[in-house]
Amino acid sequence: MSYPYQIKSLDQYREAYNQSIENPETFWGNIGGYFQWKRRWEKVLDWNFTEPNVEWFKGAKLNITENCLDRHLKTLANTPAIIWEPNDPDEHHRILTYKDLYIKVCQFANVLKNNGVQKGDRVCIYMGMIPELAIAVLACARIGAVHSVIFGGFSAQSIADRLYDAQAEYIVTCDGAYRGAKDIPLKNVIDDALIGNRTIKRVIVCTRTRTPVSMIKGRDVWWEDEVKKIETLGLNECPAEEMDAEDPLFILYTSGSTGKPKGVVHACAGYMVYTNYTFVNVFQYQRGDVHFCTADIGWITGHSYIVYGPLSAGGTTLMFEGVPTWPDAGRFWQIIDKFKVNILYTAPTAIRSLMGFGLGPLQGKDLSSLKILGTVGEPINEEAWHWYDEYVGRKKCPIVDTWWQTETGGILISNLAGVTDAKPSWATLPMPGVQPILVDENGKEVTDTEDGLYKGNLCIKAPWPSIIRTTYGDHERCRKNYFSTYENLYFTGDGALKDKEGNYRITGRVDDVLNVSGHRIGTAEVENAINMHAGVVESAVVGYPHDIKGQGIYAYVIYQGSHGNESLTRKDILQTVTRIIGPIAKPDKIQFVSGLPKTRSGKIMRRILRKIAEGETQNLGDTSTLLDPNVVDEIKNGKI
Ligand code: WTA
Repeated sequence: MSYPYQIKSLDQYREAYNQSIENPETFWGNIGGYFQWKRRWEKVLDWNFTEPNVEWFKGAKLNITENCLDRHLKTLANTPAIIWEPNDPDEHHRILTYKDLYIKVCQFANVLKNNGVQKGDRVCIYMGMIPELAIAVLACARIGAVHSVIFGGFSAQSIADRLYDAQAEYIVTCDGAYRGAKDIPLKNVIDDALIGNRTIKRVIVCTRTRTPVSMIKGRDVWWEDEVKKIETLGLNECPAEEMDAEDPLFILYTSGSTGKPKGVVHACAGYMVYTNYTFVNVFQYQRGDVHFCTADIGWITGHSYIVYGPLSAGGTTLMFEGVPTWPDAGRFWQIIDKFKVNILYTAPTAIRSLMGFGLGPLQGKDLSSLKILGTVGEPINEEAWHWYDEYVGRKKCPIVDTWWQTETGGILISNLAGVTDAKPSWATLPMPGVQPILVDENGKEVTDTEDGLYKGNLCIKAPWPSIIRTTYGDHERCRKNYFSTYENLYFTGDGALKDKEGNYRITGRVDDVLNVSGHRIGTAEVENAINMHAGVVESAVVGYPHDIKGQGIYAYVIYQGSHGNESLTRKDILQTVTRIIGPIAKPDKIQFVSGLPKTRSGKIMRRILRKIAEGETQNLGDTSTLLDPNVVDEIKNGKI
């Protein structure tokens, strides 16, 4: 069976696109008709970007898990929903059919209820990539609790900040997680995050690594024991809570250019419809295809294209616990061979890292099942694109370069595999319902071209169904961040080029957000973490081009501590960042300086620091407005 709303030709794409712009309500109302609702909507869309207030499928009632599970049971009960491949290739994989997944989600939903979780409560999930993570996510959605998944690479301090911000009272975690050669003690990290915490009522711990853990009486319980209780009670069904279309489905924290990470909130109906629609169209998913998205569910890509998109489409989604390079750099290829994977969706940083191992790891692996390849998370350079095309896709698989963000919920700009043309390193065309616009600094549409290309800041003119609704607990922050830079536009924070045919190429962030190995990190966050180290007076963090990670983190640090040993101080600073944010935010380079280039009003001139970090010390531009131009020479000549 195919999907009635699957676009099959360029003409159909044009037709769908035009209709979606001329009459978005009819367009999305039609798509909405293919889902299961408890009550139909009264109005498809109401919106303004001034407050902002966006409501899709207004008045409708639904539960997303009925669309991901119940509605497939008649025809797909014995079809694999989740294929799980463990970290260690010698351990047995697991396959959960739709029936299995349905029962497990219902059981765990009952476990949550039994432990006091109610509709609207926030549940923090901090787990490794095991099926129970997807089960926990769906169980929350089943009972209307708001999940907030935190990536396993964040520190106790980061977790504590997020728990506080989300006012979460419940946590689901694992004893530990396997990732490559590492064994990450997740429960210990949670225990550290909970020192002094009085608001967390329950921590449910799933067994994975069986690393020793301290189970605190009255607070901590084992997942397996709780499920057993439910089984004994025969509670294998759990009615799906009736949710309003606009009720929050989840919170996901992401970095911005200022302050602490913000909790991006997505709503039930619009998110469901849009992730499904983009999954089916971008990847041209066919029933029975095995879809392998290599992201972690701790990031938006995992939410939308491991869990909700594929499952709402009755697809088979492959979850991999480990990393691409362990026990060797052939791990992805071996998994593709083993499960006859049809769609591979990964990040440019993974491709570049695997390219570095040459063709050896590909040898002896049968990749002929692959039909479609995808990338996400950062701009893909042409070299990586061609390697992916030639050696992984054997020049037979269309590559979709999908541009989107945590805030957009789903893919906004991408070619449709095999339907619209690919163009190396270009995301190409907007999805139906998406109206991009390039503006200059004053918010005016860019109408002049340079070398035949329009160049500007990428904004979107009108809402699509899975647009961010608010930042948790602080709506004003949402307005300020995304809707106030340019009037009546959603500002993405990215710069882009557009050609005369309307194709977009994303050039990267124009704000102070870094994209390191496809992970979003705010420079301000890293600076705050560095500044917490005793002896650090001030710091400035910028990104610089990095062969594999895309961007690396470069920190300029003014240090006046007493330790004379620079190399030890450097390690101490790295340790501080690991403690405050997590290992993913560790600077690649630290340069000690005696001052930072500041304007007379005290603003750090990052432009100059960026250039120096890039090794471009000749053309630093105008430095005359600096308070102390000598600082620049010192930094330029300094060593790291
Ligand atoms: C970048 C990840 C170029 C971009 C889904 C965006 C990309 C940020 C692409 C969002 C792409 C994502 N080409 N750049 N195909 N996809 N980006 O929130 O800078 O983790 O703003 O969401 O990643 O990162 P986030």
